Amino acid sequence: MGIIISIVNQKGGVAKTTTAINLSAAIGQKGKKVLLVDLDPQGNATSGIGVNKKELEYTTYDVIMGEIRPSEAVIKTNYKNVSIIPATQSLAQSELQLAAFDKKTLQLRKALLQIKDEYDIIIVDCLPSLGVLALNGLSACDRIIIPMQCEPYSLEGVAELLATVKRVKASTNKGLQIMGIVFTMLDKRLIVNKEVMEAIKSNFPPDTIFKTEIPRNVKISEAPSHGEPITYYDSSSKGAEAYKKLAAEVIKRADSAGKML
Ligand SMILES: Nc1ncnc2c1ncn2[C@@H]1O[C@H](COP(=O)(O)OP(=O)(O)OP(=O)(O)O)[C@@H](O)[C@H]1O
Ligand SMILES: [Mg+2]
Repeated sequence: MGIIISIVNQKGGVAKTTTAINLSAAIGQKGKKVLLVDLDPQGNATSGIGVNKKELEYTTYDVIMGEIRPSEAVIKTNYKNVSIIPATQSLAQSELQLAAFDKKTLQLRKALLQIKDEYDIIIVDCLPSLGVLALNGLSACDRIIIPMQCEPYSLEGVAELLATVKRVKASTNKGLQIMGIVFTMLDKRLIVNKEVMEAIKSNFPPDTIFKTEIPRNVKISEAPSHGEPITYYDSSSKGAEAYKKLAAEVIKRADSAGKML
C-alpha cells in the first residue's frame, strides 16, 4: 500500500520543487518505488528531473481532467526507481476548466487512487497557491510536507496554510495529516534565519519538525539546470547529504503512517 505525500506551501520559492525532486531521487536510491507528480504549470519538477517538456504525450493536465488513465501519463526518469507524471504550462488551463466539475478538488485523488498501490511513495509537487489545483494536491494526499524558509513572514503564510489544511480535513480528506515541516535554504550564520527558526519551533509540537535541516548550498541550485537530482549531480555535497538524511526520515514516517492508513 503506497502513501501519497504532497509538498505544499503557497509561498513561492521556498524549495518545494527542490525538495520534491531530491526526496524522490534519494528515496528511490534507498530501494523504494517512487512516483513524482508535477502539479505545477511551471513544470520545474519535470525539467529538473531531466524530462524534456517538448516530447510529452500526456501530462498531469490529462490526468486531472480525467481524460486518460493515470498510468498512461507515467514516464520513467533516468534515476533509480523514480517515475514521473510530468507537467507543462497546459496545466494552468485546468484551474478554470475544473470549475465546471462537480467535485473539482477531487480529480487528482480519484486518479492517483488508481495507481497508488504500484508505488511505495507518491510525491506531489504543488504550485505556490491555495487555488483549485493546490486543493487537488491537498485532497489527494495522506500526508503533507511543508518546506519553510526561515524568513520574516514565513509564519504568517503558514497560518493560512494550516487553516486550509483544517478545512480540507473537515471536508474532502479526513485522513490528511502533516508529516512534517522542513527548514530549507538554511544559513545559520544569519541571525534572522535563527530567530525565525526558533519562532517556528515554538509554534509547533517538536515532532512536527524534521530533524534534518537543508542548508543553503550552491550545488543544490546548480543541479536542476543539468536535469539531475543533487544526489546524482554531486553525491558528496552538503546538499546531497542533507536530502539523503531527510529521505531516511521521510521513509521512517511514511512506514509508521502506512500502518495507520
Ligand atoms: N538548499 C538550497 N540551496 C540553494 N538554493 C536552493 C536551495 N533550495 C532551493 N534553492 C533554489 O531556490 C529557488 C527556489 O526553489 P524551488 O523552485 O524549489 O522553490 P519552489 O517552492 O518550488 O518555488 P515555486 O513556489 O515557484 O514552485 C531555486 O532556484 C532553487 O534552485
Ligand atoms: Mg516549485
